[in-house]
Amino acid sequence: MVLKGLMENPDKKFILVGGKGGTGKTTSAAAIAVYFAERGEKTLIISTDPAHSLADSFDQPLGNKEPTRIIGVNGQLYGMEIDPEQASGDFAEILNMSGANTDDLANTLGSMGFDEFKDMFATMPPGVDEALALAKVIQFIESPEYQDYKRIIFDTAPTGHTLRLLSLPDFLDSFLGKAMKLRVKINNMFAGFKSLLGMEAQRDNTIEAMEALKKTIMKVREFFQDSKRTEFIIVTIPTIMAINESERLAEELHIQNIAVNNVIVNQIMPENLDCKFCKARSAGQAQNLEYIRNLFVQFNLTEVPFFDREIRGVPALRIMGSALFESK
Ligand SMILES: Nc1ncnc2c1ncn2[C@@H]1O[C@H](COP(=O)(O)OP(=O)(O)OP(=O)(O)O)[C@@H](O)[C@H]1O
Ligand SMILES: [Mg+2]
Repeated sequence: MVLKGLMENPDKKFILVGGKGGTGKTTSAAAIAVYFAERGEKTLIISTDPAHSLADSFDQPLGNKEPTRIIGVNGQLYGMEIDPEQASGDFAEILNMSGANTDDLANTLGSMGFDEFKDMFATMPPGVDEALALAKVIQFIESPEYQDYKRIIFDTAPTGHTLRLLSLPDFLDSFLGKAMKLRVKINNMFAGFKSLLGMEAQRDNTIEAMEALKKTIMKVREFFQDSKRTEFIIVTIPTIMAINESERLAEELHIQNIAVNNVIVNQIMPENLDCKFCKARSAGQAQNLEYIRNLFVQFNLTEVPFFDREIRGVPALRIMGSALFESK
């Protein structure tokens, strides 16, 4: 089977490609983008994975501020690699979120006796960076100059990242959120006393910053959940470890109300009776393929062969695109 419901549906503007590390997310996303562009649809491909490899896949440099025209494609294809760290920094400034500085939180929680939470806050809560990067992307792709892109493809970070950011609003509402609200109330109360006494007091804006962060992430979630425009494609390979991780991903996406119709099963070894090693690998894969076909009956599975060379550069991506979209 080939990828269904994408090419023939012009409303499917946003295609997110995700899955376990190393399965072929970047290659699939890039091949899908080349395929659309070469069929007359102006396309943009964006990597939100902090460890970018999109430029390597196209074998040409890509910018991180403006879309870069990708050469060698018979059509209009643009690409960019968003730097999540920079994007979250920019966003924090826009929202004036300095109050949500995690070092501050760590110290305050520590001084309140919440030592066990201090470590948790020593770094940004997981997923915040990518959430803010995605929020930034969503903000700019909704602006007028991006309206003439017919398709926008996202090459996302390996499984965990993307999912964690979706559950961040719940995290912010959780006990820690309440603890922080209490802290802010106490601080503001003291600030009130101080100002009554004519002493300088600074208002604590942690709540506002948290609410702003939550709103931003909710917007990302809404975007993900708009099944008319957005679809998540899971990329996997025929190993039990990858299949198990894809199953968890599919479940999580279902819980989060994110549409999944297509699963790419990549890197399928051809049968080769002359090579003992290949024969053994291929037999193992055949078994796993049977398993995934039964497991994922609700999805359209697209099986892609393991090519005899690395898929890199536009001509190779074109071959991958044919394997994804054209029946043999
Ligand atoms: N069907 C295939 N046949 C041959 N090589 C492939 C195939 N699919 C992917 N590759 C190669 O496998 C490597 C990993 O692919 P890719 O970078 O797309 O994976 P990824 O899921 O994006 O990895 P990461 O999790 O690191 O982002 C690349 O060198 C790519 O060219
Ligand atoms: Mg990748």
